[in-house]
Parts: sequence; C-alpha cells; structure tokens
Amino acid sequence: MNELTLQAFEHFVGRFGTEVDTRLREARTAEDVEAIRVEYLGRANGKLTDYQKQIPTFSGEERKLAGQQFNAVKKLIEGRLAETLTELSRVTRLSVPDVDLTMPSRSQFRGAEHPVTVVIEEIVEIFREIGFTVATGPEAETEWYNFTALNFPPDHPAMDMHDTMYLAEDVVLRTHTSPVQIRSLQAGPPPIRVVIPGNVYRLDPFDASHAPMFAQIEGLAVDEGISFVDLKATLTHFATRFFGATRTRFRPSYFPFTEPSAEMDVECRLCKGSGCPACKGTGWMEILGSGMVHPNVLDAAGVDSEKYTGWAFGMGPARIALQRYGIPDIRVLYDSEMRFLGQVAR
Ligand code: DAH
Repeated sequence: MNELTLQAFEHFVGRFGTEVDTRLREARTAEDVEAIRVEYLGRANGKLTDYQKQIPTFSGEERKLAGQQFNAVKKLIEGRLAETLTELSRVTRLSVPDVDLTMPSRSQFRGAEHPVTVVIEEIVEIFREIGFTVATGPEAETEWYNFTALNFPPDHPAMDMHDTMYLAEDVVLRTHTSPVQIRSLQAGPPPIRVVIPGNVYRLDPFDASHAPMFAQIEGLAVDEGISFVDLKATLTHFATRFFGATRTRFRPSYFPFTEPSAEMDVECRLCKGSGCPACKGTGWMEILGSGMVHPNVLDAAGVDSEKYTGWAFGMGPARIALQRYGIPDIRVLYDSEMRFLGQVAR
C-alpha cells in the first residue's frame, strides 16, 4: 500500500465502519459473522488490519490522530460483530427447521380447584368465622382410636373386615374422621372447638353413591355447660351460611359416640322441597350426623365427663358437592375428567 495522507487514511478507515454494518445485516449464521470478522480484522490480511501498518508512517500529531481513528473504528466493528452474534443466537433458536412458526398456539390451560376442595374450604371457613380452628389426624389409626375410644362395642359390625380396611392386626385406615375427636380431646383441655377435614376409607363398592375413599369433615365443641341448643343453633347457622336461606330439620338417629344423636336435613336444593328423584321424593337431603358427645368418649380421652359436655358432627363434602352442582353420580368427582371439572371450576 502506498503511503497515504491522513485525510485519505481517515476516509478509508472510516468507510469500513459503515461497510461492515451493511455486511452484517446480511449475515444469517455465526459462520457468516466470523467470515466478516476475518475479512476486516483478520491478523494476516484483514482490510482494517492492513491500515494499522500505515499508522507508523505518520509523524507527530498526525500519527496520534490516525491511531485514534483506527482504534475507534476497530472498536465499533468489534461491537457490531458481538451484537450481531447475540441477535442471531436468538433468531436461530426460533427458526430451527422443525418448528413451524405459523402453527396456531396451544390454548391456555388454567388449573382450578376440585369441587370437593372448594366445598371443604367453604365449610371450614364458615366454622372459622365463629371461633373454630382446624385439626387433623393420621389416616392410619389403631382400632382403639377408630372404634374403642368412640364407644363402639367390641363386636360392632363396622369393625368387620368386610367394611374396614385393615393394614395390620390392630391398625386400620380410618373409617371416619371421628378418631381425631379423641386426639383433640387428649390434646385438650376444653374449651375445644375444632373442625377436622380429611379422607376416610371403607370397603364399599365404587358406585353412583359410594367410593372406597372419600372426604369427611368432623366438628367438635366441648366446654362447660354446652347443650343440644348449641348444636342446633350452630348447625342451623352453618346451613344458612352455606346454602343460603333454607329450611332445616333434625331427625333422631344413632351413633355409638353420641347420645342423643340427630341427623340434619336441608330442603332439597334441586326441587325446593317438593320431592324429586335426587331426594327420593322426600323433599329433604341429609347432610350430616351429629349428637351430644357420649360421656364414655370424654372419659376415654381423659376429659372429665362430670364437668364438661359437648356436641359433634360429621359430614361428607362430596355429597354436598353433588347437591350443589347437581351431579347425579359421585364417580365423576374422582374420574379426573377435565371437561367435567372445567364446568364446575371456580
Ligand atoms: N363418624 C360418622 C360416620 O362416619 C359421622 C358422625 C356422626 C360424626 C355423628 C359425628 C357425629 O361426630 O356426632 O358416619
């Protein structure tokens, strides 16, 4: 290369900046970028590198200006090369051959809470508002917690292997949440006000109205001077809060762990009390069992039955969910059928 005037040097070197810019716009791959780098900055015959050799031919102030110009352009080119590489790496990922960018995107999938979970949470919340706390207990229980302490006589049919899943000689999968009453009483002392959600197990066939595993919610209130009035008032309050204005009724019943015992019905949601297949023509739906805690139960748990009284209830949120959503078959709650669950999603 002939010796140049400073003006010519600045002109040619300056042009490389724009030239490289234009070239890089056409680069499609990292290899294209590398080729451009070698062409301009390559050590052997790089277009810009060649001009570096010109710098010593200037003297004094001119050499300094030429050096500055050279470095500025070199820096500019290096910067653009790096930028282009980053841009390309982003674009290349999108344009790999087997991704079809014109395909319609998948519709959004939004999860939702299961209807039984929704019902459990609402029930728990209503009791929370009036001072109850939540308690839980193990699903594998000894016979003592599941039956004996709850005043089941030793030969009660519920203890039969046909109804109850035994894990070992003395250990069962709890058949109800009532054993957590005993655990709560033992953790005492009264006053006790707890609700106990949890899963329970029975050797039932899986049909329209039975499942071998289902949720229950237990309630327990024990204090001095608690009476059947508290039971009725609290459970009626619950029914009104949960179902809205509704008629309720209590029917005498029997459970080993309560005396007296009562089942609570609410007016059938589907026919408003006039009678339909869902309520077997009665106009009423049974929603829970309840009663005054049997003194034997308090004593078994070490709570003084002379001093304290209490009431308890147990209900099945799945049955209540069926009622609320007008579902005729309990199995749909366990099918994981997304089209159904999507319909009732909150
Ligand atoms: N444990 C009973 C069941 O599974 C339900 C029940 C009834 C619970 C009355 C109670 C109660 O606490 O007082 O069928």
